[in-house]
Amino acid sequence: MDTFHIQGGGSLQGEITVGGAKNAALPIFASTLLTDEPCIIENVPDLSDIRFMAEILRSLGATVERLTTNSWRVEAKQISHIAPYELVRKMRASICLLGPLIGREKQADVSLPGGCVIGPRPIDLHLKGLSRLGCEYSIEGGYVRVDGKNAKGNYVFLGGRHGSTVLGTANILMAATLLPGITHIDSAACEPEIIDLCKMLVSMGAKIKGIGSHSLQIEGVKKLSGCTHSVISDRIEAGTYLIGSAMTQGDVTVHGANHRDLGALLDKMDSIGARVDILSESSVRVRAALEPYKPTDVITLPHPGYPTDLQAQMCALMCLTPGLSIITERVYPNRFMHVPELQRMGADIAIEGSSAIIKGVPRLSGAPVMASDLRASAALILAAVAAEGETVIRRIYHLDRGYEEFEKRMQSLGAQVMRIPEKELPQHLQEEPI
Ligand code: EPZ
Repeated sequence: MDTFHIQGGGSLQGEITVGGAKNAALPIFASTLLTDEPCIIENVPDLSDIRFMAEILRSLGATVERLTTNSWRVEAKQISHIAPYELVRKMRASICLLGPLIGREKQADVSLPGGCVIGPRPIDLHLKGLSRLGCEYSIEGGYVRVDGKNAKGNYVFLGGRHGSTVLGTANILMAATLLPGITHIDSAACEPEIIDLCKMLVSMGAKIKGIGSHSLQIEGVKKLSGCTHSVISDRIEAGTYLIGSAMTQGDVTVHGANHRDLGALLDKMDSIGARVDILSESSVRVRAALEPYKPTDVITLPHPGYPTDLQAQMCALMCLTPGLSIITERVYPNRFMHVPELQRMGADIAIEGSSAIIKGVPRLSGAPVMASDLRASAALILAAVAAEGETVIRRIYHLDRGYEEFEKRMQSLGAQVMRIPEKELPQHLQEEPI
């Protein structure tokens, strides 16, 4: 397996343009099942999750062709409604196949998503929403089997104990585009990735009102057409580089993501004293503060609140911020797998329930650490670049799921990071932390 070998002590400098957003591309790929006409999807990030979703669409009967590194053609002339267990169980986001299969085939057999290291990944809201649309479902042998032959538009309240659900909203939205009648979704997610999905569906002929709000209205149509759609830029990738700039006394300008999609992050970075310059609608520059950072507190919330996918990265920045900072997870209360690894690098963090209480330290030191999930991996890389000494990060396949060519992009900003197969590590770095 590959590792990242990072020589710390550098600072991130320069300009970078982010790629397409994984969390928009995955439901967008699923939405191509809603039509029997070809769809061209552009600005797709080159990630293992995307290649995996392409495999799943092929297993359902769609013709899926990669046109270039970042563009694909999908034609779902005739499809099966059964998403295979051996494929679907490996990627939780496959649950977003439910909605298009109900919309197109009026039935769906999709294997239940496993949990993952960031916590349980329930689908009760997805199923409550489909029930409100007149679907009947059963859980059998690890599959959720949904019968939507009598499905039609209805009022759906989709809020749960943690607020809105992103892929739950995607599922009900996609199903409703082809169901008779009108569907109102209240407490809908309004993440930029959902807005992007809505824009693609409208270009296919869907009738959707309230795009960008927590209340969506969808009037079902008989058929949707093919389209060409370019995926929205990845705000989480953008935020990762901006936090890295602040952590490493750097000066980084990120192009591509709309600064308003990063409002909560930029507001927080401004409050700790980092110098944030909005150069244009889709270019933001962050430079290190001229004086020591000020501690702050962050609570992760559904959009437009602070994104949980930038929680680990902010945690790493707080490790180097003098004083006591607190970060509280209201989306995934247990999403702190990065904390023990940051502690191995000298961070002073205490977990209290769903909060991390972080006492800033003057410096972090390089150490052998383990990636555990996509965003934790990114946080560890930022910490390793900021730290003194060398770090080895194992299990970086987690990172490859959501960051395209991350080491090359970080190298372009001056980071000394190399991708090295574990067996080629220098002898003194061979032993894996027990
Ligand atoms: C999406 O996951 C993203 N994944 C996640 O990104 C992201 O962290 C999450 O939204 C929150 O923004 C993709 O888009 C592929 P949710 P999703 O349903 O839709 C609870 C990454 O690192 N909930 O919005 O699965 C749930 O337990 C990944 O890129 C229910 O209780 O997340 C969580 O506490 C990680 N019942 C909260 O809602 C349900 O039926 C938000 O989950 C569904 C969710």
